[in-house]
Amino acid sequence: MKKILITGGAGYIGSHTAVELWKAGMEPIILDDLSNSDPTVLDRLEEITGKRFAFYQGDCNKKSLLKSIAEKHKIEGVIHFAAFKAVGESTQQPLKYYRNNVGSLLVLLKFMEEKGIKDLVFSSSCTVYGQPEVLPVTESTPRQEAESPYGNTKKICEDILVDCVKSEMGIRVISLRYFNPVGAHPSAKIGELPLGTPNNLVPFITQVAAGIREKLTVFGDDYDTVDGSCVRDYIHVVDLAEAHVKALAYLNKQENNFYDVFNVGTGNGNSVLEVIHAFEKVSGVKLNYQVGPRRPGDVVKTWADTTKINNVLGWKAKYSLEDSMRDSWNWQKSLD
Ligand SMILES: NC(=O)c1ccc[n+]([C@@H]2O[C@H](COP(=O)([O-])OP(=O)(O)OC[C@H]3O[C@@H](n4cnc5c(N)ncnc54)[C@H](O)[C@@H]3O)[C@@H](O)[C@H]2O)c1
Repeated sequence: MKKILITGGAGYIGSHTAVELWKAGMEPIILDDLSNSDPTVLDRLEEITGKRFAFYQGDCNKKSLLKSIAEKHKIEGVIHFAAFKAVGESTQQPLKYYRNNVGSLLVLLKFMEEKGIKDLVFSSSCTVYGQPEVLPVTESTPRQEAESPYGNTKKICEDILVDCVKSEMGIRVISLRYFNPVGAHPSAKIGELPLGTPNNLVPFITQVAAGIREKLTVFGDDYDTVDGSCVRDYIHVVDLAEAHVKALAYLNKQENNFYDVFNVGTGNGNSVLEVIHAFEKVSGVKLNYQVGPRRPGDVVKTWADTTKINNVLGWKAKYSLEDSMRDSWNWQKSLD
């Protein structure tokens, strides 16, 4: 069985990807420092798959740790999820973000070079596009100056990968630019586990519905969108996880020195108010929300053109927004 190292594999997207890799006949080897995740996820993964995955707790900035994992397992590919992702915090503590997000990629690439590991899938983000002038966003839409140190780390990491692919390292890399990951595993055994106040809309919604938070504020309802609230492309995390499996399979067929980027989204935009109403419909819970002023720096609307990933990787989103809301709500209820 092909062994794939998943950095940040105990986290939200990494844990779902571990399940999909296993289903596709690959063995995930998980490395996570648990800075933003909980070790019980390993038990949950075992309940879903029937398999106890190899798990190493530690910082992927430590090459000695990566090497010790490679001594125990023949690693044939890497998916690099490990990063900090709180946009607001990144503006307050930029060095923390550059060190972890950029630093860990540098260490990982050096490790891959030394061990002759060729294939890497990198977690990038639609944040690299900023507010695009033309929608939907294709992969050739120009990247814009980053709004935050977090966004900048994704741009810088993409650039580092492009340079490394041109070198003698011979690596093959896909950067997946995620749109807005939402939902949870349909088993409700794994999902997004925000520490403290959620930065993302859907965990905020489910926490308000569960009575953990009093109310949700919608930041602006007077934008030039379908109902005035901001529009995003919400992609179910299981669909997103499957895109990593497709990306690895595709990389495996490429010559050395290969790089490409793919948008991962549904191809549809939904407004914040549409998300709220979809949640209310599937949960039967009336959400306590209010409309507040616009939030400075918010992208007004963005959604993906998914033609490239549909045609080249043969991947297409299967879950609907309502599926995502149902699974997020079941996950939230399982936490009570
Ligand atoms: N969730 C989103 O909205 C979103 C959108 C676009 C891109 N991304 C990117 O996808 C990736 C995964 O995001 P997620 O939502 O699953 O986040 P997450 O925080 O749930 O998962 C990241 C995991 O990495 C771990 N980690 C962080 N630094 C580490 C280090 N140095 N060594 C080992 N482990 C470390 C954390 O403990 C956590 O378990 C990140 O790179 C993120 O920037 C996320």
